[in-house]
Formats: sequence, structure tokens, C-alpha cells
Amino acid sequence: MHVSDPRRSDVALAAAVDHLRLAGVPDPRVDAELLLAHVLGVSRGRAQALALVGASLTDAQAPVFRDLVLRRGGREPLQHLTGTAGFRGLELRVGPGVFVPRPETEVLVEHALALLPAGECRVVDLGTGSGAIALSIAVERPRARVVGVERSADALRWTLENARRTGAANARIVRGDLASAVPEWDGSVDVVVSNPPYVPDGMVPRDPEVQRFDPAAALFGGPDGLDPMRAVVATAERLLRSGGGLAVEHGELQGAEVRALLGPAWGGAATHPDLTGRDRVTTARLR
Ligand SMILES: C[S@@+](CC[C@H](N)C(=O)[O-])C[C@H]1O[C@@H](n2cnc3c(N)ncnc32)[C@H](O)[C@@H]1O
Repeated sequence: MHVSDPRRSDVALAAAVDHLRLAGVPDPRVDAELLLAHVLGVSRGRAQALALVGASLTDAQAPVFRDLVLRRGGREPLQHLTGTAGFRGLELRVGPGVFVPRPETEVLVEHALALLPAGECRVVDLGTGSGAIALSIAVERPRARVVGVERSADALRWTLENARRTGAANARIVRGDLASAVPEWDGSVDVVVSNPPYVPDGMVPRDPEVQRFDPAAALFGGPDGLDPMRAVVATAERLLRSGGGLAVEHGELQGAEVRALLGPAWGGAATHPDLTGRDRVTTARLR
């Protein structure tokens, strides 16, 4: 990165955009502005305004910004660099060891909420990662009691911090395998929701951020990618009450396979698109 006056925010921002574009970052301007905002401790809009008038970075801020831009050019996820990921109004802490929540999973939450009865109810999120799904449902439905289940100790560090920061008293995080999760709620749960690992073993994710920084335990799901999904369906059959709902996220080409995994115990199976029109979520109700 060549910057004539590294302390002028407009100059630094232009150099950052050029660097990220050359590095193949998909949204170089957005990421550069968000990193500038992070370093300045202001909103993205405010950072844009400060750059427009050529405001100066301090001597301390300029090298921090340059370092973050270089790391983003090395394809570290933006959310690891800022330490946060936005999800349905929550600001979640994320970093190495935990899956960065994705915008398409906000759609999964929408479907899970649509399956919930009004009033008091029970929800289980299998493979909760950062806690994105469990915590947003707990916040958006204060009368729901929500349990998030996570097996990875590395991920759980982030889940517990997010649960504490969110402060939702109706959310509980438990460590364990989703196959044996929450036995005390057998037959009484209203909605089971999950975004399990679903990438077939051996497939190399296209984006370097995913390939190099998302934990393998969050991505890979056996030869066809659907081993965790089979466990999710079996656990949902154990946990749900009759008429309870299941909402799962999967790969864009896996909708038919996921519906086929749901045997005669299930009714009304349907696959729904994400915001880009790709099949992403399947829902069904236990008969
Ligand atoms: C794709 S990530 C989803 C994380 C989060 N729910 C989200 O949507 O952002 C899958 C998560 O499931 C967890 N996981 C994988 N296998 C599991 C198992 N058998 N039991 C519990 N958690 C599991 C992984 O550690 C990871 O956090």
C-alpha cells in the first residue's frame, strides 16, 4: 500500500480501497470504510463524512488502520478484524474458533419464528456457534425459553460471552453433542432450529475467509455433508412435541436431499430461498 500522507483519512481510505480491490476482496470500499470506522470508533456514515473533509487520523490510528487493511487484504474476515458481527440487531463478538454468522441465517431465524406459537414456548438451537440464532430468538421472543447447544470449546468461549453481553435471561447455553442434547425437554419443545455443518468432506470452500478462518468443525459434515443433518433430524424427532416445528439451513443444492431425510413422522416439508433466491432453509412439522 502506497500512501503519500498516511494520516489523511481520505488518502488512507483511497489507498485501502485500491489495496483490497487488488487483493480480490469482494466489497473493497465497504470493507475499507468499515475498517476506518472501527479505527476511528465511529459509524460507517461518520467515517465517510470525515474522509470527505480529509480529516486526519492520529499518529496512533494511522498504523493501526494500515495494519488492518493489510490483514484484510490477506483475506482475514472483516468480522475477525473488527471483533464483531451484526446479526438481526445484535452485535455479536466473533474471532478465531467460532463460525462467523451469515446474513442468510437471518432468514432461517425468520422461518423459526414463524413456526413458534405466541406466548410461552420452548426452542432449541443445535450447533449454536456464536449464539446468533438462539440469542436473537431469545431477544425477539422474550416469552420463549431458548437453549443453544454447542460442542466446540473454542466456539463456546464466544457463545458464553455473547450470551452474557446480550443479557437475555431466557437463553441458556449448554456444552454437548447435539445428538444427545437437552434430554430433560424430550417431547416438549415447540421449535428446533439448526444451521449445522453441511459442506461435504473434501470440498474446498471458494472464499479464502471461509477456507482458512472458519473452524472445520463448523463446515464439514461427512461424505455428502449431511451427517450432522441426520443427527439434527433424529434429535428433533426426540425433542419436539407433536405439531412442533423444525427449521434447518442447508446448502443451495441440498433441499431435496434434506426433505428426503424427513420420513413419515414429518408433514408439510417445504424448502425456502434465501435473500439471493437460493434454496437455503427447509421447514417441517412433526406429526
Ligand atoms: C455452521 S456453524 C453454525 C453456527 C451458528 N448456529 C450460526 O448459524 O452462525 C455449525 C456449528 O455447529 C457446531 N457443531 C458441529 N457438530 C456439532 C455437534 N455434533 N454437536 C454440537 N455442535 C456441533 C459447530 O461447532 C458450529 O459451531
